Amino acid sequence: MKILVATEKAFAPVAIKLIREVTEAAGHELALLENYKNVSELHSAVTDSDAMIVRSDLVTPEVLDAAKKLKIVVRAGAGYDNLDLPACTAHKVVAMNTPGQNSNAVAELAFEMMLFQARGGFSGKSGTELRGKTLGIHAIGNVGKYVAEIAKGFGMDVYAYDPFVTDDVIKASGVKVCKNPEELYSKCQYVSLHIPANDKTKKSIGYGLMKKMPKDAVLVNTARKEVIDEDGLLKVFEERPDFKYLSDVEPDCKAVFEEKYKNRFLFTMKKMGAQTEEANINAGVAAARQIVDYFKTGNEKFRVNK
Ligand code: 3PG
Repeated sequence: MKILVATEKAFAPVAIKLIREVTEAAGHELALLENYKNVSELHSAVTDSDAMIVRSDLVTPEVLDAAKKLKIVVRAGAGYDNLDLPACTAHKVVAMNTPGQNSNAVAELAFEMMLFQARGGFSGKSGTELRGKTLGIHAIGNVGKYVAEIAKGFGMDVYAYDPFVTDDVIKASGVKVCKNPEELYSKCQYVSLHIPANDKTKKSIGYGLMKKMPKDAVLVNTARKEVIDEDGLLKVFEERPDFKYLSDVEPDCKAVFEEKYKNRFLFTMKKMGAQTEEANINAGVAAARQIVDYFKTGNEKFRVNK
């Protein structure tokens, strides 16, 4: 089978080496389309592929139309909002993700951003510390658990809200339970977002929640920009000079921040959360193994479409 790695944001070379080893040891052929600039390159590359590994690359009906032989696509990562699942199903393509494989990298980035901001962007000015501050984890899944672990190391007072995780499980990780998002945002100076982007969560973090945050609030978004209601965010920024926003990926309203709110935001140019050698190896190799296993045994454990 021909397995295509199609990544607009390339994996570390060491991850590609290992992906190649896994696929070739199973008798498959590996093809690479890395750092592509135009979706037409993806359309051409995928025409004769039986399987595809992607990251945040959009798998649209047009890509699937071009991929005449495609049987399986694996999103090497957690969030699969970039895969058009009904279109995958309509094209008889199995869609999978690799949950948990890049979680530590994302959690570390949340702290890297918090620390950079707390120390005034390493400007030399006097900053603040994380110890003793309240941190709210909005959704305590794979990434949220690592965030809790690191936060405790920093001596933070850690809370979480997650309707899909029982109170006992949250408490067992040494984290205090909040009954609803309002309680989490009211209690916590820092809030770290770990919700997926879907029809229920898009634009769900808005003015009502943000304005509840205590003085010197810092909202940290290593999830997806789409979960933020940017009108609400701008309203809070206008009203509260103490409010800061750190986001892995620029919001659509970046120009307003640059013009009006210098030193109160931090945006990465490209999504950086999972951009470590370790995360690339974990997620990339997991994706390759899932494809090899699917072709060998039909294992659909990580399938996300019906
Ligand atoms: C994920 O959902 O796994 C992360 O957001 C990583 O995305 P990336 O592979 O595009 O860096």
